[in-house]
Amino acid sequence: MIPSTNHPVIVVGASLVGLSAALCLASHQVPTIVLEKHSGKSQHPRAIGFTSRTMEIYRILGIENKDPAPEDFKLERAHVESLTGKWLDESSWSDTERKPKVEKPVKPNPRSSGPKKEYSVERASAIPQDKLEPMLEALALERGADIRRQQKLIRVDQDQDGVVATVTDAEGNEQKIRGSYLIAADGNRSTVRELLQIPRHGRGHMQTLSSVLFRAPIEQWTKGFFQFDIGQPDLKAFLASYSDGRWALMFKDAIDRDEQALRAAIYQAVGRSDFPVEIITTGRWELTALVADTFQSGRIFLAGDAAHTLPPNRGGYGANTGIHDVQNLAWKLAAVLSGKASAKLLDTYDSERRPVALLRHDQIFVRADYKIHLDTATPAGEKIDDDAMEFGQIYLSEGIIGADKSLPRAKKPDEWNGQPGTHMPHFWVLKNGEKIPTLDLLGQGAWTLISESDKWSEAVSTVNESSSIPLEFVHFGNSVQLVHGDDFQKHFSVSQSGAALVRPDGYIAWRVEALPSNAAEALKGVMSKVSFSTGGPQI
Ligand SMILES: Cc1cc2nc3c(=O)[nH]c(=O)nc-3n(C[C@H](O)[C@H](O)[C@H](O)COP(=O)(O)OP(=O)(O)OC[C@H]3O[C@@H](n4cnc5c(N)ncnc54)[C@H](O)[C@@H]3O)c2cc1C
Ligand SMILES: *[C@@H]1O[C@H](CO)[C@@H](O)[C@H](O)[C@H]1NC(C)=O
Ligand SMILES: *[C@@H]1O[C@H](CO)[C@@H](O)[C@H](O)[C@H]1NC(C)=O
Repeated sequence: MIPSTNHPVIVVGASLVGLSAALCLASHQVPTIVLEKHSGKSQHPRAIGFTSRTMEIYRILGIENKDPAPEDFKLERAHVESLTGKWLDESSWSDTERKPKVEKPVKPNPRSSGPKKEYSVERASAIPQDKLEPMLEALALERGADIRRQQKLIRVDQDQDGVVATVTDAEGNEQKIRGSYLIAADGNRSTVRELLQIPRHGRGHMQTLSSVLFRAPIEQWTKGFFQFDIGQPDLKAFLASYSDGRWALMFKDAIDRDEQALRAAIYQAVGRSDFPVEIITTGRWELTALVADTFQSGRIFLAGDAAHTLPPNRGGYGANTGIHDVQNLAWKLAAVLSGKASAKLLDTYDSERRPVALLRHDQIFVRADYKIHLDTATPAGEKIDDDAMEFGQIYLSEGIIGADKSLPRAKKPDEWNGQPGTHMPHFWVLKNGEKIPTLDLLGQGAWTLISESDKWSEAVSTVNESSSIPLEFVHFGNSVQLVHGDDFQKHFSVSQSGAALVRPDGYIAWRVEALPSNAAEALKGVMSKVSFSTGGPQI
């Protein structure tokens, strides 16, 4: 029997990415039903580093960054025999090579790399995933998400009009749930991806690690470092902090250890045994790098680990990439569901997000942490700057005008200067006398034309009035002022009369160097193409 209720979007998986999807969709007034097979949370905190770009997305969703990393913080990793024994060297996450051997323990000096360009209003956050998820869940519930636990998806069907998810509850009762679209945020072993038989490619399985999560007061010996490579003839392990008294020791082997052996290893890693240790849980963890061959099948979209499983690295490609996926998808689904945009807009999700995941996959293996796993058959690619990877990966799709394959796949924001396909640059502006970041200029769900010339005002009003898709105008020099000495034309590489068109997700869809002769006509044509508006604005 086909159920009568039709949910606009069904999300499978109520973990990091599924909950972020529900929140992004709620911000566009799209209700969701979220199906999760488990009754509770996993015991392991998993990821801890959430990047500035992720925190920008959460800022727009109204989630405050309560644990900002210190300014200019870089995750350094120390190579030691043990915490209280010999310190060998340290490796910065942005360096592909280890730094020269250090003679004595050193404090990390995040400022040693000189003044860093400011690329974001937000700082990265050090919050364990098992503390972030309950926060996201509470907010999603508050904003109307229908989260159903102990609902395991076992089958998915789709036709021209929608999708049907078949789920079973704890007692094995089957139920069919109908929706217009489905987001598979069901993780690395995605049931949806497997049912759709979407293959994955990549470096594949690299290593199986066994791990122990424990609580112990060892900060007194860590000299401010959060991660350690422990190297002793009979102990090769990785030790990482969750910044809340919890630590994970990961053995570079798959041996099962009993409690006594685990305690002994923890003491050995620290180099002393005069402190209390509470063992929380043990686990086994596979390092895998795989990207799905497509992120879309009709009305079904893969996001997060279901689409790309990347080993955690210090650039934050694992968990963060999935949050960026759903930010890209949410406004598109909202526009199509409301009838304002054609379903073709949804095809840009795969064209924009899959290359991002593929590049991250390749970049992981040219960085220090995973270089040893590089397949010797595949030549190492060129290492791309970390800021370029975080803030400057370009989108190429039918929804972007003025970007093609001849461009590099990532550059720093101040090298792109408003290139279509990249995120609008961050700088500070004055609005009603208040200093705000450019990010806060964007209206929720609206498109924005930004220019220094008031000549665009009429064109924007004309296009806005005649289209179902909201278009706002931000006029630099009037409602919004530059901070003294700043240069708008340089930020966007346009002249005084030029303009940039920014999508609801903050990406630039089009840019024009100077005011065209019939601005309204030009803007109308551009909007109709890049927003995939149904019918298009009538002037
Ligand atoms: C031990 C460990 C440590 C990690 N450390 C880091 C780190 O330091 N940095 C980093 O960036 N990343 C790390 N990761 C990876 C990070 O946790 C994942 O990238 C992230 O959780 C992906 O989120 P997701 O929502 O896509 O998938 P998941 O978190 O895997 O969630 C998928 C959800 O879908 C549910 N589900 C699956 N199948 C079904 C079904 N058929 N029906 C209903 N529900 C279903 C699952 O129960 C689960 O809740 C770590 C992972 C592990 C396991
Ligand atoms: C991901 O899934 C594959 C099989 O689909 C498995 O081999 C691998 O170990 C898994 N990786 C993680 C990190 O769970
Ligand atoms: C665009 O239209 C909406 C109403 O549809 C209106 O609220 C808004 O002020 C308009 N903006 C511009 C720049 O004309």
